[in-house]
Amino acid sequence: MISRILKIKGLSKTPNELNKKVCIFGQGFVGLPLALSFALRGCDVIGVDVDDVLVANTNKGITHHTERFHGLTIQKILQMQLEEGRYIATTDAARVVSECNNIIVTVGIPIINGNFIMDYLEECSRVIGKNLKKNDLVVIRSTVIPGTTDQFILPILEEESGLKAGIDFYLAYVSERIAEGSAFSEFENMPTVVGAINNESLTRAIDLIGVVCKAKIITASSMSEVETSKVFENIQRDVNIAMSQEFARFTEALGIDIFEVIKLANTHKRVSLLMPGAGVGGYCIPNAYYYLEPKAKELGLKMDLLKLAREKNAFIPEFIVNKTEELLNQVGKELKGSKVAVLGLAMKNFSNDDRISPAVDICKILIKKGVIVSAFDPMVTTQYEFKAKTQDEALDGADAVLVLTKQQEIHFDDVMHIVEVMNENPICVDAKASINRKEALKYGLM
Ligand SMILES: NC(=O)c1ccc[n+]([C@@H]2O[C@H](COP(=O)([O-])OP(=O)(O)OC[C@H]3O[C@@H](n4cnc5c(N)ncnc54)[C@H](O)[C@@H]3O)[C@@H](O)[C@H]2O)c1
Repeated sequence: MISRILKIKGLSKTPNELNKKVCIFGQGFVGLPLALSFALRGCDVIGVDVDDVLVANTNKGITHHTERFHGLTIQKILQMQLEEGRYIATTDAARVVSECNNIIVTVGIPIINGNFIMDYLEECSRVIGKNLKKNDLVVIRSTVIPGTTDQFILPILEEESGLKAGIDFYLAYVSERIAEGSAFSEFENMPTVVGAINNESLTRAIDLIGVVCKAKIITASSMSEVETSKVFENIQRDVNIAMSQEFARFTEALGIDIFEVIKLANTHKRVSLLMPGAGVGGYCIPNAYYYLEPKAKELGLKMDLLKLAREKNAFIPEFIVNKTEELLNQVGKELKGSKVAVLGLAMKNFSNDDRISPAVDICKILIKKGVIVSAFDPMVTTQYEFKAKTQDEALDGADAVLVLTKQQEIHFDDVMHIVEVMNENPICVDAKASINRKEALKYGLM
């Protein structure tokens, strides 16, 4: 039993009267492992989501997430917590809020064409407000536009409930800092930053977070500081990657290896360059600039450097398509009508997440340009017409291979075989430095 395993390792914590019942809005990449993390420590947890298929599957123990904890898959942990009766998912938000005194929100703000969509967070805030009771604690963990908790969520909660924040109910903001794939251990071991509407809310929020988080819990002077620090954390990665991309163009022109150069630079104790790749994807980093921009506009500020970094990163898929065309032309082939094998569709290495994935964008641009695309990524469950069932099926007769994300199931050790399966005079764009360059040239992969 996982609960026994946790006890043995000294991880299990007995929740107190106040933090025993927890409900978590949003059962996605953050919400589900967070809910299970509370359940693992003995809380009674209800996961709330508007997606009824997701809820039905979750209650059957089915999830496509790839998280692991103490050698157990998230599927195994989910099944155990369902069996032990400490976790259940539901779409009945109203009932859950009326039965729970700790409410955590992990519902996001999507960005569409650079515009933020508040609908999901608003709907969720309204149902919480309508069913809120005296002394309930509401903790917002979504990544938001600075000021959202205080200026958007709080008024809805007060209006719908008729209660006063900080007096009748408690309100706090906690930034979510996990990386997908390490969620369970990062909920536990990542220092957690919290801000609240008043001291009582802060104390309640720290008590609740402390059930799962063993690391330092850092208190901020307000919720806005925490919201802003979270957006800054994400944007610094966006800017850092844009810089590495520009460095990559320089090293390419010079004929030296960017990955080696970055590794060398990072041996300096105060340097931490990120690796360039096929672009920046996922829900967090590409959206971050668009969480800051509306507030900056409101304040009459321009964020030129940050905007440029975002634009540079957003252009990388197009750059990779142009590079593919250039290399194909060099071997006397046209982009249009060629077959391109894409290896890796996830937004980052070893992930199943293909939200805002540059690899998917690259496939779509290629298809628009008349290319036959065949992509292989067994971790990504989304159905795409251009998906192949095996690596060899994707490579079969291809004029070009694009290596865009690493996965355990994608193999590069046998370069000779890759070349044999492909068409004559094949070319390669390797955004992950996965294929041995010397071997590739030896077998004629340009
Ligand atoms: N994924 C990450 O690694 C990560 C890391 C740090 C922070 N975040 C932030 O955490 C938040 C959640 O991200 P995610 O990756 O889990 O997103 P997700 O899309 O995987 O999950 C969000 C879930 O919320 C549900 N939802 C939408 N409206 C709802 C409502 N009214 N009530 C209940 N559920 C509702 C959706 O159906 C979805 O299942 C976002 O703000 C994101 O920016 C994510």
